[in-house]
Amino acid sequence: MSKKLTMPKNVTVIGLGYVGLPLALAFSRELPTTGFDIDASRVGELLAGTDRNREVAESEITSSNLTLTTDASCVADAAFIVVTVPTPVTEDHKPDLSMLESASMMIGSQLCERSEGLPVPIIVYESTTYPGCTEEFCGPIIERESGLKAGEGFFLGYSPERTNFGDPEHTLETVIKVVSGETPEVAKTVSYTYGLIAKAGTHMAPNIKTAEASKVIENVQRDLNIALFNELAMIFDRMDIQSSDVFEAASTKWNFHRYQPGLVGGHCIPVDPYYLTYAASKLGHDSKVILSGRSVNDSMPEFIAAKAGSLLRSQGIDPNSAAVLILGAAFKKDVVDIRNSKAIVLAERLAIRFGSVHIYDPLIEGVEVERDGARFAMIDDPLDSGVKYDLIVLAVAHSEFVVFVNRLEELLSHDGVVMDLTGTFTPGSNNKTLSDVWTL
Ligand SMILES: NC(=O)c1ccc[n+]([C@@H]2O[C@H](COP(=O)([O-])OP(=O)(O)OC[C@H]3O[C@@H](n4cnc5c(N)ncnc54)[C@H](O)[C@@H]3O)[C@@H](O)[C@H]2O)c1
Repeated sequence: MSKKLTMPKNVTVIGLGYVGLPLALAFSRELPTTGFDIDASRVGELLAGTDRNREVAESEITSSNLTLTTDASCVADAAFIVVTVPTPVTEDHKPDLSMLESASMMIGSQLCERSEGLPVPIIVYESTTYPGCTEEFCGPIIERESGLKAGEGFFLGYSPERTNFGDPEHTLETVIKVVSGETPEVAKTVSYTYGLIAKAGTHMAPNIKTAEASKVIENVQRDLNIALFNELAMIFDRMDIQSSDVFEAASTKWNFHRYQPGLVGGHCIPVDPYYLTYAASKLGHDSKVILSGRSVNDSMPEFIAAKAGSLLRSQGIDPNSAAVLILGAAFKKDVVDIRNSKAIVLAERLAIRFGSVHIYDPLIEGVEVERDGARFAMIDDPLDSGVKYDLIVLAVAHSEFVVFVNRLEELLSHDGVVMDLTGTFTPGSNNKTLSDVWTL
């Protein structure tokens, strides 16, 4: 190991969101760790033991050794800096690197204040991005702000986040962590440091670009697989074939891989593919397959809204006066996150066509989801209200909705329609009271 590179004695995590907070807490069990965020209200809540994302229990925060701060000077003398800030897309689906840029500027300016004689810091990016971003976008910003050179005054690494929030099985402890560094020696140090918390082990990618690419294609693949099944579901609906029956039959072949059609929302699967297609387009490649998958998945709320109208009309119910209940507002099962939720987009589409639209999500009480001009509203437990609905759409398969699956009939008007977008109902089997459920 070169004199410049030593095993890190402390960690600083920049950005304490879904990714950063659990990561900082995990590191704090192994090394002195500081968590920094620019959002003072977030840090204030965490200091009081509250994680608004409900991923981490109060006792875990209050009993930890993690230092929480909004003071950027914590970065100056840090040994191992991990960046976990958001990487969304702009309205026209281009990477929005503004938060990576500001975090990198802050790191660069703080490195100017670094105490003499400390080992060279390693800066590892965890934010999902396109191949090349860490070394070609972030590194030069740190160089510009600090006057230091990458590979001399600081070292770069990349380690993608791949835990699945809302899923207790796939966590930081149980999932292999991909790691990389700008040299093999840096990669080894990054691997050693993550190895302290990634109990399932690390996989060392040959370089940073490879690690960046590996993360983005995980979500490209998932997006495309679901898009294929969404398209198949749309085709079979026109053919009056139950798509789940087709998938079940096809699944008996050894090499058929089954996916569940449905709404694709959130800030990873529908966002990350655009990072790759953007980088590909800069190199003159038009990513036709990836982008057509995106367009199929984005069309699902409109397809479902149109289908809902025809189902109601076939039952003799006038959509203009129909009452609709959507179960689930979050972007996926068992999370409190409504960013880029397609259940909300569906509510908007239904609100254009139907008399009234209510959304019930027991996990996101108190969150304002009404959008300008759209006639839909969050409600409290509909089982307590006595209201009957002409259309009930199960949009998100929260574990808490199990009770609704067995009591939907109490909420349904005479001739009302149930649509299941989640694969919770196996037609005719797991619900004894509802004979007819439209499923994707
Ligand atoms: N949430 C997931 O399921 C998930 C999974 C894998 C990868 N990722 C990726 O991880 C990254 C972070 O995602 P997230 O869901 O944790 O985001 P998040 O929005 O939950 O949290 C990000 C945090 O960063 C803070 N922040 C923003 N700019 C900052 C800055 N300049 N300095 C310090 N703090 C700053 C915000 O205040 C916020 O608290 C993204 O690139 C995302 O694509 C997310």
